[in-house]
Amino acid sequence: MSKVAIIGYGTVGSGTVELFMKNRESISRKVGKDCDIKYILDLRDFPDSPFADRMIKDFDTILNDDEVTVVAEVVGGTTFAYDYTKRLLEKGKSVVTSNKALVAAKGAELIKLAKEHKCNYLFEASVGGGIPILRPINKCLAGNEILSISGILNGTTNFILSKMIKEQMSFDDALKMAQELGYAEADPTADVEGEDACRKICILGSLAYGKHIYPEMVHCSGITRITLDDVEYADNAGYVIKLIGSVKKLEDGKLKAIVCPRFVPKTNLLASVDDVYNAISVVGDGVGNVMFYGQGAGKLPTASAVVGDIIDCLKHPRTVLAVNWEDSEDKSFVVPYKQTNTSVYVRIQADNAEALKGSLSEMFGKLMYIERAGRPENEIAFITPTMKEADIDDNLTILSHTAQIKSKIRIYQ
Ligand code: HSE
Repeated sequence: MSKVAIIGYGTVGSGTVELFMKNRESISRKVGKDCDIKYILDLRDFPDSPFADRMIKDFDTILNDDEVTVVAEVVGGTTFAYDYTKRLLEKGKSVVTSNKALVAAKGAELIKLAKEHKCNYLFEASVGGGIPILRPINKCLAGNEILSISGILNGTTNFILSKMIKEQMSFDDALKMAQELGYAEADPTADVEGEDACRKICILGSLAYGKHIYPEMVHCSGITRITLDDVEYADNAGYVIKLIGSVKKLEDGKLKAIVCPRFVPKTNLLASVDDVYNAISVVGDGVGNVMFYGQGAGKLPTASAVVGDIIDCLKHPRTVLAVNWEDSEDKSFVVPYKQTNTSVYVRIQADNAEALKGSLSEMFGKLMYIERAGRPENEIAFITPTMKEADIDDNLTILSHTAQIKSKIRIYQ
């Protein structure tokens, strides 16, 4: 008999228990022996749960039970979760998790600790919810040099943007709905300000390039300043606005990593990814462009990835599954984004907006101006040519003396 423990009985934890118990027979067949959940740790009481007899409040019960070899940490956060994970790995118990905050902050350390104690730290559920993405990068695509990874990595913001664009729902109502559906983080600021997507691009980049990319190394902005005017300009120019996380290998071998809203061409597959769905494009030097698509958040999709990791650990006891991800003293392998090239959409307002077009051309070169129905006379919107972002920002600083810069959104290239 193989025994599993679950730490945290929130959205993902309860989904993990539900899916595991529903499919326990087939899971046991796949593992090759009888499998069961022995403990569910949560400080709250769940007297009506069908699994009330497995509920405990004391972590040491799990830590000191030799029968438990695999633990799912689905409690979230980086305090208790970090402490519990370290102590479990030090005991040689494998830990699987959906906790992207912890993986992004401590992944290199916890993977090393797991290796030293001949167990595993697996985190498929930390990126893309139910989408299998980390194993494909780590295994199936291992023969490639990864040239870039980019995509929609946050279900909540994609849900909000879809509702705003397609149903003219307000930002606040859409966010409330995403929270009710169990998509959003405990503090949804992490979703809407791009921090959650940032953690995920750090995890993807660290796995693909073998060096820990910390969230502090990645420029990150969210969707809170996007207006319906921007949405309309994007639409008229042939784009939709999506929050995109990306990491790209540059010609000198260094990496560019960034999370921000982007104008995505309607012809790109990412443009048609709506609601809670995520999609991740991985470009390898052999395989070309591979796209992964599925539900990026929610109880059972995320549980699907957690249970998959549990099964992998149960099937391979005392086997360390190879993960290429180490810490690096030198952090200069990620370049400052301002030193890289981009093209941006800009919306400005000024009393003499039309008269500014001459100096705009001198600053940026040939611009593509965009129209929208009812555009006020004091507003113009345009897309710049591709140029160094620091130069774009210098120009916008000069421009800000005569106009209000209302929006700057990068174009997806
Ligand atoms: N809040 C996250 C999202 C949950 O919306 O994508 C899944 O990681």
